[in-house]
Amino acid sequence: MAGSYERIYGEWQQDPEGFWGEAARAIDWVRPPETIFDAGAGVYGRWFPDAEINTCHNAVDRHVAAGRGAQKAIVYDSPMAGIQRSYSYAETLSEVKALAGVIASLGVGKGDRVIIYMPMVPEAVFAMLACARLGAVHSVVFGGFAAHELATRIDDSEAKLIITASCGLEPGRVIAYKPLIDHAIDEARHKPLHCLLLQRPELAAAMQPGRDVDYRQAMADIRARGADDVACVPVKATDPLYVLYTSGTTGQPKGVVRDNGGHAVALAWSLGNIFGIEPGDVYWAASDIGWVVGHSYIVYGPLIGGATTILYEGKPVGTPDAGAFWRVISDHDVSVLFTAPTAFRAIRRDDPEGELVRAYPRQKLRALFLAGERADPETIKWAETQLGIPVIDNWWQTETGWPVAANPLGLGRMPVKYGSPARPLPGYDVQVLDDAGHPLPDGTLGNVVIKLPMPPGCLPTLWNADARFRSAYLEEFPGYYKTADAGYLDEDGYLFIMSRTDDIINCAGHRLSTGAMEEVCATHPDVAECAVIGVADDLKGQIPCGFLVLKSNSVKPHAEIEKEVVGLVRDQIGPVAAFKMVLCVKRLPKTRSGKILRGTMQKIADHEPWKMPATIDDPDILEEIGEALRARAR
Ligand code: COA
Ligand code: AMP
Repeated sequence: MAGSYERIYGEWQQDPEGFWGEAARAIDWVRPPETIFDAGAGVYGRWFPDAEINTCHNAVDRHVAAGRGAQKAIVYDSPMAGIQRSYSYAETLSEVKALAGVIASLGVGKGDRVIIYMPMVPEAVFAMLACARLGAVHSVVFGGFAAHELATRIDDSEAKLIITASCGLEPGRVIAYKPLIDHAIDEARHKPLHCLLLQRPELAAAMQPGRDVDYRQAMADIRARGADDVACVPVKATDPLYVLYTSGTTGQPKGVVRDNGGHAVALAWSLGNIFGIEPGDVYWAASDIGWVVGHSYIVYGPLIGGATTILYEGKPVGTPDAGAFWRVISDHDVSVLFTAPTAFRAIRRDDPEGELVRAYPRQKLRALFLAGERADPETIKWAETQLGIPVIDNWWQTETGWPVAANPLGLGRMPVKYGSPARPLPGYDVQVLDDAGHPLPDGTLGNVVIKLPMPPGCLPTLWNADARFRSAYLEEFPGYYKTADAGYLDEDGYLFIMSRTDDIINCAGHRLSTGAMEEVCATHPDVAECAVIGVADDLKGQIPCGFLVLKSNSVKPHAEIEKEVVGLVRDQIGPVAAFKMVLCVKRLPKTRSGKILRGTMQKIADHEPWKMPATIDDPDILEEIGEALRARAR
């Protein structure tokens, strides 16, 4: 296989439909596709429009049917709860079938939406698979989001059911989920019929009679009634498997839709060809099921590929120390690790000489994949030196569902260029355009776009929002999908992703909208105007920093207002926003047309060279911003 990237990419370029038609053979279909791509369907075309499938069958049942029921499917390792437990494919099937019975008994059927707000416990994975089994559409919400964010998602998805747990476990504290759920349901206009709740031993949640249902009791009841042998419901390949909300440029998150057929085909292809994973290998994506990495590479990818997946409820450091990853890898014979660069920066900070790295055997570990934010060369080189294995930067987004660019391990790697996730993968024709849509020469920074159609697995649209999908992604550069990343291609076709072109920031590998934070800051009664920007942070890559202009009649001490605004963002968006830095300033720098100069403010905050914008209204304000930042640092 060594070095087959050029050939395989060329095969895709020559005959995209033939390429994906062949890839589709790795999947079990209820009705195999006759048409591979219909350019006239959907917003920009649809993959496998006449096929029928069930994703849960592909992730679980077929491996049991093929005689691999005894193989481990899920290994749950929780330093937080002090539990290690594995589930074979046969056990996973039994749990998922019964849970599908419970979910169906609560009135959920094909096409209905289910919100899953759960910590990293096996029942969360069973819940996703059980929804897929019924043809219901799940929407997983990350546990670090607050009640208001949950309410927004309940309303947008009009979920019939919420599946949750009594609590999540963060280092040093137990996070009660149920009050957040109750608050979110109160706030939402749409009311889910039921809430299926897993009581964890660390905290018991109060139940609301009639609405709330105990997970374990319901599973026992469904088994006692013999209604736990629920079959897979065939769905159209183009039917939605899930909606995953991600940060947009406003407080209204975007519901990224993933279909069933294209998703299964793309993930199966990616697992072997990009990650080099074979059935039976142990694959660990150290992320959270609330993010796209968790959907694709904790749950669906490894299971569709017949691998063993690790579900880790813990942190890279502090649970109990920076050796946690090496302990898990050693305990479970992990072959491939996937995580965010932030996790490695945290490990390196606590164990710079790699003493804990050497404390655990890692015979099977053959590659480390990093994604979710820019992988700085220092971090990559440290990981390479410590681990002695390939460290592979890969670039993609919630919207694409699987890597757009990577150095594909399964195709034999290409030479590494630090700072680049290597070259675009088959399916993706990546180009760099100027703001007017003209192609830019090699080495010139511009808008990174993907020529339509997007390959299987990428979003066909946003949930109930075709028009928003068009305007957010397709209209600015007709014929292309706008990634909203800025970068360049070099003379060898290597891609370099440098920053976002919108107000999204990546904080600890978590995608956050500064626009959404501004909306919350602006609700404080003393705030007249505000701006939130992402500033560089050694550990988290970027962290948000808020600038507040107070109303002229405000009399409260600045420190008090700053504290209240931090509290507001934590309450409204959640702790994951990591919004802790905020300062009151006299004025915000603006252009003459009134646009806040966030880009220049960010450069000043990061001590980067900056030029006075020609359109600035009052140049003195930038000096005031610099002084406010210096005063805070003192
Ligand atoms: N439920 C509730 N709260 C959560 C949470 C969850 N699932 N996940 C994070 N939080 C909270 C944290 O406890 C923290 O709260 P605090 O402000 O009270 O301390 C806050 O949200 C911010 O979390 P985070 O940005 O993750 O910072 P941290 O200091 O807790 O941890 C790292 C730092 C580097 C250890 C952590 O960010 C990490 O493991 N990063 C890896 C990133 C990753 O896996 N990304 C997924 C994409 S691949
Ligand atoms: P998310 O949708 O949460 O996966 O975030 C996607 C965004 O994260 C991308 O648009 C990029 O801005 C950034 N990102 C993800 N992976 C990388 C990477 N390997 N290099 C640089 N930026 C990345």
